[in-house]
Amino acid sequence: MCCKRVGARLIVSVPVALCQNPHFRIISGSPMPNLECRPRIEALRNQQIREVANMAMSVKDVLPFWFGESHRPTPEAIRAAGAAALMGGATFYTPTLGLPALRAELAAYLSRIHRPIGPERVAITSSGVSALMIAMQALVESGDRVVVVTPVWPNLVEIPKILGARVTTVPLHFGTTGWALDLSQLVDAIRPGVTAVLINSPNNPTGWTLSRAEQEVILARCRELGVWLIADDVYERLYFQGSCAPSFLDLVEPTDRFIGANSFSKAWRMTGWRVGWAVMPEALIPGCSKLIEYNTSCVPGFIQAAACVALKDCEADVAAMVDEVRSNQQRLYDCLGAVDRIELGSPARGGMYAFFRIEGLSNSLDFCKQLVREARVGLAPGSAFGDEAPEFLRWCIASDPAKLEEGLSRFVRHLS
Ligand SMILES: Cc1ncc(COP(=O)(O)O)c(C=O)c1O
Repeated sequence: MCCKRVGARLIVSVPVALCQNPHFRIISGSPMPNLECRPRIEALRNQQIREVANMAMSVKDVLPFWFGESHRPTPEAIRAAGAAALMGGATFYTPTLGLPALRAELAAYLSRIHRPIGPERVAITSSGVSALMIAMQALVESGDRVVVVTPVWPNLVEIPKILGARVTTVPLHFGTTGWALDLSQLVDAIRPGVTAVLINSPNNPTGWTLSRAEQEVILARCRELGVWLIADDVYERLYFQGSCAPSFLDLVEPTDRFIGANSFSKAWRMTGWRVGWAVMPEALIPGCSKLIEYNTSCVPGFIQAAACVALKDCEADVAAMVDEVRSNQQRLYDCLGAVDRIELGSPARGGMYAFFRIEGLSNSLDFCKQLVREARVGLAPGSAFGDEAPEFLRWCIASDPAKLEEGLSRFVRHLS
């Protein structure tokens, strides 16, 4: 027998074997099997955006601006292609790395907007987040060091932790011109021993976008030290100063230690379809093929048929979406710019969000819950994206302009 303390209050006697067994816990004096996930998983942060959305489910008439998705369904041509392929019987397993037709279409698309990229470097994945997970699983061992630029969509920081990586964050800084990177701070953080650097640009939530000059410096540093560079490019087409944001794919060679993760979710409004892709060196493809097999095996054929049409026929839909987001951004700035306690910074150059500071706010999560209850407006708390922005709120502006208008007026009324 041995004694075990449970919290501060109870000391009990239980068989030594159970006491020392990590799969048992002592609950109210009895040994109980430990039914929790392994400690590393239990320690992951809860997704605060979901926390706000879940609590809002029981509140009537809330205008939701918390998730990053358009209010419009997927463009009709894409839906029609998916439906036709489904009805045509495209319901079987497909090749692990994607249908050759989609890989070829994607290579052609990427070669049009970046540099020539062959289909042998492209893998189709079951979403952008799946592409990131595959990339991390391919590169990161337990104990490895990974550098992430923050604030950022929380998954980028948590995924490496699932694999046991140690994460170093490099914070962007908020000033009168908006969010900016201290390039020398990032270069310093990319030091010998670092396995990978993860950068999301245009960035969710801030809209901060890497310049070409910054990309060149970062790529040179990664090349010098043999560090893997993982670019999360899911917002590259939601860019307000051209048809595509500057991307590392404009610079990298096929032999660079580089993975570009991307998605059909945002630009083609396909969040519910779960399809994305990754571009990587050809030598990494066989390993990633195994990982795709062991994670999701393949993407359904009818979804890939729809994705082909997105790439071939839907440039006008992408442009219309960018126009709508840009015009919503203008409206939000006009409205919130006139409110004393709000600091907006310069409008984001890309993405689908406004990320702004409320003077005197200390707990953005509590404030978002209060907004839901009292103003019927659903925003995402800044604290969901890292420790840099507890006094910030994120507003998804890929919304219906009329709902945005109503949301803004409820929000301003609440603040005043
Ligand atoms: C920065 C970033 N990367 C990746 C994703 C993943 O997109 P999906 O998994 O829908 O393809 C998101 C989704 O919000 C995101 O904001």
